[in-house]
Amino acid sequence: MSDLLNQCPVIPVVAIEDPDNAVELCHALNRGGINAIEVTLRTEKAIAAIKEIKKHCPKMILGVGTILLPDDVLASEDAGADFLVSPGLSPNLKTALQKTNLLALPGTASPSEALSAYEAGFQKVKLFPAEAVGGAQLLKSIQAPMPKVMFMPTGGVRTSNMRSYLDLPNVYAVGGTWIATMDDIKNRDWASVEKKAAEAVQIASA
Ligand code: 3PG
Repeated sequence: MSDLLNQCPVIPVVAIEDPDNAVELCHALNRGGINAIEVTLRTEKAIAAIKEIKKHCPKMILGVGTILLPDDVLASEDAGADFLVSPGLSPNLKTALQKTNLLALPGTASPSEALSAYEAGFQKVKLFPAEAVGGAQLLKSIQAPMPKVMFMPTGGVRTSNMRSYLDLPNVYAVGGTWIATMDDIKNRDWASVEKKAAEAVQIASA
């Protein structure tokens, strides 16, 4: 389960308003070489969009992001999620993420938060908001004291800086909204999504 993201080091973080766009969005990402997605629970129809992806894109590695409450964990499990991502970790959310059988990537923003998550059983975490809390320099600094904690930075990650993260031994993936923005999805600009996905894959494999 924890190896789920090994084959996809770039995770598009998306907010889908219209579930009818979900499948075409995944097809555009696939054409660009990306087979994973994190659908955030930031729109009213997010769960419906996740169900569409589960039904029509069975090969997509399907993450649910913006998990804030234990109920979000249950709703995501029910909708068919493969992995869960939260922006931070509260006591109740920690318990819910410990209980799930899905890969859970709790958000951390500091060495102490990363250590708390590690102590709670999460070896893979998210660093959020990555650029705002110190970016690649922060991750580089904390690699030596906590080499077993692996990070997925998101928040300010773009084509221009993603390589500096992926070069670090404690980074297993990067995520961000730049590959498929809300406007891209709303305007059904699949060519733009495909292009940005292909560009990200190229940088990740360089
Ligand atoms: C997230 O939820 O991971 C972030 O909103 C992504 O941040 P970005 O919009 O800067 O990519």
